[in-house]
Amino acid sequence: MTYRIATIRGDGIGPDVVAEAVKALVAVSEASGFDLDFIEATMGGAAIDATGSPLPESTLAACKASDAVLLGAVGGPRWDGLAGRLRPEAGLLGLRAGLGAYANLRPARMFPELAAACPLRADIVAGGLDLLIVRELTGGIYFGDRGTSPDGDAAWDTERYSRAEIERLLSVAFDAARDRRGRLCVVDKANVLDSSRLWRKVATEMAASRPDVATSFMYVDNCAMQLVRNPRQFDVIATSNLFGDILSDEASMITGSIGMLASASVGAAGPGIFEPIHGSAPDIAGRDAANPLATILSSAMLLSYGLGRKAEAAAIESAVAAVLAEGMRCADIATGASGELVVGTKAMGDAVVAAIRAAARS
Ligand code: IPM
Ligand code: MG
Repeated sequence: MTYRIATIRGDGIGPDVVAEAVKALVAVSEASGFDLDFIEATMGGAAIDATGSPLPESTLAACKASDAVLLGAVGGPRWDGLAGRLRPEAGLLGLRAGLGAYANLRPARMFPELAAACPLRADIVAGGLDLLIVRELTGGIYFGDRGTSPDGDAAWDTERYSRAEIERLLSVAFDAARDRRGRLCVVDKANVLDSSRLWRKVATEMAASRPDVATSFMYVDNCAMQLVRNPRQFDVIATSNLFGDILSDEASMITGSIGMLASASVGAAGPGIFEPIHGSAPDIAGRDAANPLATILSSAMLLSYGLGRKAEAAAIESAVAAVLAEGMRCADIATGASGELVVGTKAMGDAVVAAIRAAARS
């Protein structure tokens, strides 16, 4: 069995962290007896430099012809002066839309080994943290009508959602809640926005036929506050594109570091996109300083959600837990506690590979 994986290394630390995730994928594939065929494609700043476009046609075609897409990160100050549709981020948005990846799953889980890196008081997170943000990814204000007035003194972006877009996203969120602890919180701004009122109406209708899921609603400002006051109240959060973007950064930090969090972007047809939720961190690019664990954990999501290889995904997750238990830390998750060994990007990736191989042998 051979799976075809499109790899988009991207900009900044993207190439550093994708290299380590590829190593982990190869290690589990060798241990399990399937093959991975990696196809390199460019997107973002690297693609702008090479072709003038942040998302070359050939990249979208290569991704469509793959079983899954593994992505590093895109963007950087070098391209900040470009017009919106020519920026590296436009490549990422085009890829999400082009592959129909409308549901973005962002788990925020605290590894017990990293409890000391959590910025919240110990009593708030006693018992651990494990929540999942299901973010709508191909609609809303990111894709709505936008413009700037001729004199440049006014500008607008539009939040617009159709019932169909909301239904398909919520359906993913209800299913996820059912597989987890059975609770779904729909986050919106229904006290102000018509689009949010539609989300609430559709969610209420859908909840009626899903009595096995406890559905609740929360305004986004309150949710931002509750995530630091009492994050353990949440199981699955479903929300719009922009709210999900903001809340998932917040949720990542309360688990210790954004350098640990993976994501999967999936849709009805096409392959999913698997990427860390962090950005391209140009200041530490190419210096063996980035934490590759978010991308390595994204490769685990690629195996389970993208290829249906749940055992192999679990092997990668266990290997990550094992290296953390040994005390290995990248700088972002180091607390200075005794027993910690602070390592670079490659050494962390090597340690995960060694743990995968050791588990396969035993
Ligand atoms: C993310 C990022 C992107 C987004 C940017 C890079 C366009 O912040 O994946 O969360 O806003 O969706
Ligand atoms: Mg973001």
